[in-house]
Amino acid sequence: MKILIASAEVHPFSKTGGLADMAAALGKSLAAEGHEVGIVTPLYQGIREKFPNLEQLDYSVNAPMNGVWENAGIASLNYRENLNIYFIDHPAYYDRPALYGENNTEYLDNPRRFVFFAKAVTHFARYYHWQPDIVHVHDWQAGLVPVFMKHQSQSEGWVAPRSVLTIHNLAYQGHYERDRAFDLTNLPEEFYNLDGIEFHDGVNCLKAAIVYSDAITTVSPRYAREICTMTYGCSLDPILRERQQQLTGILNGVDYEDWNTTDNAHLNHHYSSRMMKGKLANKHDLQEEMGLPQSDQPLFGVVSRLVDQKGADIIIGALMELITSGMQFVLLGSGDPELERAFNDLQKKYPRNMAVHIGFDLGLSHRIEAGSDYFLMPSRFEPCGLNQMYSLRYGTLPIVRRTGGLDDSVIDPTDDIETANGIKFNEFAVRALAKAMKKALVLYDNPKLFRKMRLNAMNADFSWSRTCKEYERVYESVLS
Ligand code: ADP
Ligand code: GLC
Repeated sequence: MKILIASAEVHPFSKTGGLADMAAALGKSLAAEGHEVGIVTPLYQGIREKFPNLEQLDYSVNAPMNGVWENAGIASLNYRENLNIYFIDHPAYYDRPALYGENNTEYLDNPRRFVFFAKAVTHFARYYHWQPDIVHVHDWQAGLVPVFMKHQSQSEGWVAPRSVLTIHNLAYQGHYERDRAFDLTNLPEEFYNLDGIEFHDGVNCLKAAIVYSDAITTVSPRYAREICTMTYGCSLDPILRERQQQLTGILNGVDYEDWNTTDNAHLNHHYSSRMMKGKLANKHDLQEEMGLPQSDQPLFGVVSRLVDQKGADIIIGALMELITSGMQFVLLGSGDPELERAFNDLQKKYPRNMAVHIGFDLGLSHRIEAGSDYFLMPSRFEPCGLNQMYSLRYGTLPIVRRTGGLDDSVIDPTDDIETANGIKFNEFAVRALAKAMKKALVLYDNPKLFRKMRLNAMNADFSWSRTCKEYERVYESVLS
């Protein structure tokens, strides 16, 4: 098949979260299966300098943005066999210090930037000489592509490819007041209604994709069920229930080429389930790097966007209760300034037990995964979550709330003592997380069981080949 993936983030070119890892790994694994794959994404600041092999295509996209026609070049990179990356080159929109905003404030023209992105993807799918069978869009930033495809096939007789939407996070919808977005779409008025792209007096890019895509997937089976309920549906649950027949939950895979402990440039010491010595050496290095004493106490790690979703508030509560009871804690993250401040303040009080690094640092994220004994993910909701799966491979037992992909990927001793590889709790509350962490402290003093769970974790297999087959099945179903 020929598959065009549209994503606003693609590792290693751009990343704020798991979307980048997933879009890249999906492309790589489909290409490895012999499909022809293209990934379209914006050409953000710094990409050209980091990847000097980019070639400017002799092809450009253009699209009306309200009354004005706009052009963009396309830079391409032959990344792997069967896999090309196509970068939309529109400096006024994408050549900026950040992807979506700065100082915790969204860029004001985000509707314009991503309406244009969706138009550019549609133009590319329609007019470039390589013609995809499937256009697979990810999240709200590419959400208008299916509606543009529908419109152009209805009004201009284009036999458009089939469209598939993957929802990585229902909480981000690209929902803008009508006067900031609708005219830019140049869609006829009939698309702006409650059965179309309208939502609470505005344009909702994710809703548009839910309504107009041929198939919808999300990134774990449990999240696929959750988003059809009022609790997790972010007000889109009624529409998702209507389309439930077309909605599939597919657990993300892990790109073990990047996320492994045996061949990894970010780690000082390599290790595996058969040669565990390096794990402790990484722990000592991490303690040194973060300015903590090299104690034998269990080390709890976090790598996270500091946003409501991730449960940083209950981590702070649980730390206040437990930080002096024989543990250490390291955090890498950035986001909400109040949460950043709260972690920094607590760190100042307990400098021998806690280290905090505010920022985004790929190398350190690997070293925290490798050097920690436990990894905390007490999310309010978690569509899939990649970090808990990375933790498993790194022999770092995840402590997670039973929600979304966390529940689908971690096994608690009460689920099955033989295969257990982490600790799970139910209630979103400080006391529930603190109780789970206390269990972890007890488990740490039971080396036999701890070792067994660690081996289970490292042997768990979330390779992309399984995930890829499930996407192939979805593509086949919309093509037939
Ligand atoms: P989400 O996409 O919701 O943020 P995931 O667990 O799916 O959650 O993926 C998060 C990804 O982003 C992981 O690869 C993680 O290592 C990375 N990440 C998050 N915060 C940081 C940070 N501050 N520095 C480096 N990597 C980070
Ligand atoms: C989103 C979700 C996360 C998921 C990632 C990749 O950012 O929050 O749970 O793992 O996308 O699919």
